[in-house]
Amino acid sequence: MQAISTEELSSFKEQCLRELEKASNLEMLEAVRVGLLGRKGAVTQRLHALGDLAPEQRRQAGAVLNAIKAELQEAIALRRAALEAQALQEKMREAALDVTLPGRGGGVGMLHPVRTTLWRISDYFVSRGFVMAEGPEVEDDFHNFAALNMPADHPARAMHDTFYLENGFVLRTHTSPVQIRYLESHGSPARIIAAGRVFRRDSDLTHTPMFHQVEGLVVDQQANMADLFGELEAFLRHFFEDVNLDVRFRPSYFPFTEPSAEVDVRCVACGGKGCRICKQSGWLEVLGCGMVHPNVLSHVGLCADRHQGYAFGLGVERLAMLVYAVSDLRAFYENDLLFLASFR
Ligand code: PHE
Repeated sequence: MQAISTEELSSFKEQCLRELEKASNLEMLEAVRVGLLGRKGAVTQRLHALGDLAPEQRRQAGAVLNAIKAELQEAIALRRAALEAQALQEKMREAALDVTLPGRGGGVGMLHPVRTTLWRISDYFVSRGFVMAEGPEVEDDFHNFAALNMPADHPARAMHDTFYLENGFVLRTHTSPVQIRYLESHGSPARIIAAGRVFRRDSDLTHTPMFHQVEGLVVDQQANMADLFGELEAFLRHFFEDVNLDVRFRPSYFPFTEPSAEVDVRCVACGGKGCRICKQSGWLEVLGCGMVHPNVLSHVGLCADRHQGYAFGLGVERLAMLVYAVSDLRAFYENDLLFLASFR
């Protein structure tokens, strides 16, 4: 092999140092180190090649090469220390906590608009001397239907799209069975409201399979239709916050009341001119009511000659839709937080 010139070695060294410079992270630096000082690295190969030289040249070139190797080792160690410091800095920057940032904030809960409406309604009637009564959501046929003057095969049963359970039980289709349960256990006089969930197999813009009703019942020896009308008119004017709200009673039919009426209010959206919400009629149907049917009284062991009463029932979601101007009832149950938070 030819002698290695000092110039050649020093340009080799420069080239090695430039490669080191280019290593901008620890992985690249390690690759450069292996490429120079590893078992097959450029420096190592040159050291091996020394054996082919004449002894004098070998001594001279060996000394230079070993000096280069030492210098490279030191340069690599320096570069590694610098890169490690840089990596540590980056890691610290990434993990840094800015303690001056505001916290994430805990979400504050709120009442569901249907619950707020239900409470507004029941609070009102409690202030009118009504007592809250309760009944089960899983009802038997007697309390949901038969005792309410709907014997088996009564056509009015078809008005309710009932969820039937095993052994003759149903999911209650209205809160009226609470009338029966209360009269069975307390007798007359009674002045109660029952609020809660009811279930019907129905789902569209204005129906959900589960919804809420508030039911009222007054039984004593003189409760009459004029009391009923006065009570409901006052309630509706309070609820819609309009002391002059027009309220009208229309003859209707329920199996458990006789006579029966449906109650309308002047459309709260258009003031009676006619709009999409009142279907151009100018009126909104909001309640069902009537005088308790004598058959209902006798089912709970009360003599219809000595007792009389009135009852009413309303859909909470329907009233909530009207006061909050919500057009799709199902929105109440989709749990879209933006929708719900808009009632805060
Ligand atoms: N229970 C009836 C319904 O669900 C409402 C109602 C209650 C009507 C009390 C009259 C008296 O449709």
